Amino acid sequence: MKVLVIGSGGREHAFCWKISKSPLVTSLYCAPGNPGISKYAECVDIKVSDIEGLLRFARAEEIDLTVVGPEQPLALGIVDRFNEENLNIFGPTQAAAELESSKVFSKNLMKKYNIPTAFYSTFTNFDDAVSWVKEVKPPLVVKADGLAAGKGVIICQSEKEAIEVLDDIMRRKIFGDSGDSVVVEEFLQGEEASFFAFTDGEKVIPLVSSQDHKALLDEDKGPNTGGMGAYSPAPVITPELSKIIMERVMVPTVKALAREGRPYKGILYAGLMINGDDFKVLEFNCRFGDPEAQPLLMRMRSDIVPILYAISDKGLTDEEIEWRDEASVCVVMSSRGYPGDYKKGLPIEGIDKAEDTGDVIVFHAGTAEEDGKIVTSGGRVLGVTALGNTIPEAINLAYEAVGKIDSDSLYYRKDIGKKALKYI
Ligand code: AMP
Ligand code: GLY
Repeated sequence: MKVLVIGSGGREHAFCWKISKSPLVTSLYCAPGNPGISKYAECVDIKVSDIEGLLRFARAEEIDLTVVGPEQPLALGIVDRFNEENLNIFGPTQAAAELESSKVFSKNLMKKYNIPTAFYSTFTNFDDAVSWVKEVKPPLVVKADGLAAGKGVIICQSEKEAIEVLDDIMRRKIFGDSGDSVVVEEFLQGEEASFFAFTDGEKVIPLVSSQDHKALLDEDKGPNTGGMGAYSPAPVITPELSKIIMERVMVPTVKALAREGRPYKGILYAGLMINGDDFKVLEFNCRFGDPEAQPLLMRMRSDIVPILYAISDKGLTDEEIEWRDEASVCVVMSSRGYPGDYKKGLPIEGIDKAEDTGDVIVFHAGTAEEDGKIVTSGGRVLGVTALGNTIPEAINLAYEAVGKIDSDSLYYRKDIGKKALKYI
């Protein structure tokens, strides 16, 4: 089977690593890929947003399965275009991907189908939004409707701050058209976790639990990022809670989308806020999490290719996923300055030494190759991912490996996985 993976981050490196292990795969390509991915796949220089270019490549190379990593091509309708040409592709259609690309759509769907989520209202008019903010007690969360590169969600501690943020988004259009509509919702307390399931639009298969670390600094301080590290399993999601999340969130959401005439195929990602036995959906994403994919795929024992192919083709039959018992921890190393401005082209040494530490893979995200050397080229640069018998062992191994990477130009959190320890 010839497989094409779309994307260039740590998640896509993990996908390529995992897919390359499948005995079903004869050729693996990645567009555009990165230097880490090039160990497993032939990287082709086509942008993730160049849907027609990707389609031409898939047709010319007679690709049997295309796997989409990031949200942007999904929101642009890549799956619809490939389907029109009878090419197998893993991911939801544009209409189904609105679950991520429109927060207004996603919140209204949750409300209509009784899926637990924060109390909210949606607005297209600034004055209406301000009146609502004046009635509801802060803290509040203001969310631009559309995709805003992870920056469109702002937690506001006071009424004044919320009004300023609404002004920025709705009148000054700091996120462009993404701010034509907004969601304003209650602030939720608790512990965040990520819940993933594969679905063909009917059957829903959960993955094991995981948790991301969105904030830049230790103790969850500082600005939000794309994710500074992840681990699996996440003990905050007990097996009982996992069952309830399937019954109250994942299965009803897949059914709801089918009923709305937008059947969802692919991987469904619910970002949850958990408070004891109670939980609410913060957001849905229509793709795998980054960096959650790195530890989750390291723990997956089953071949992933038959699952991805079945979903892109005739649907799941009786596929079951087997998982390794070990825990996995991924520590993200980012460019200093991220999520703000940062320098590019700085050398990185020691990746091989880090991988010699044991059961460790250094997934590349924002790297490039210059004169045969690996240099930084993005915000999140590496995802150092380790397997250990327990979460503490995986944490120790991941940090031992991180210590072998010459990290003058790189920053990382020192407390990835620490939240899990209180449950052990
Ligand atoms: P979202 O893209 O909607 O998940 O929001 C990004 C991040 O903002 C989440 O991962 C949370 O850390 C935070 N967040 C979003 N909505 C809320 C909320 N209602 N209460 C507390 N934090 C939130
Ligand atoms: N880990 C956060 C995300 O993938 O959106």
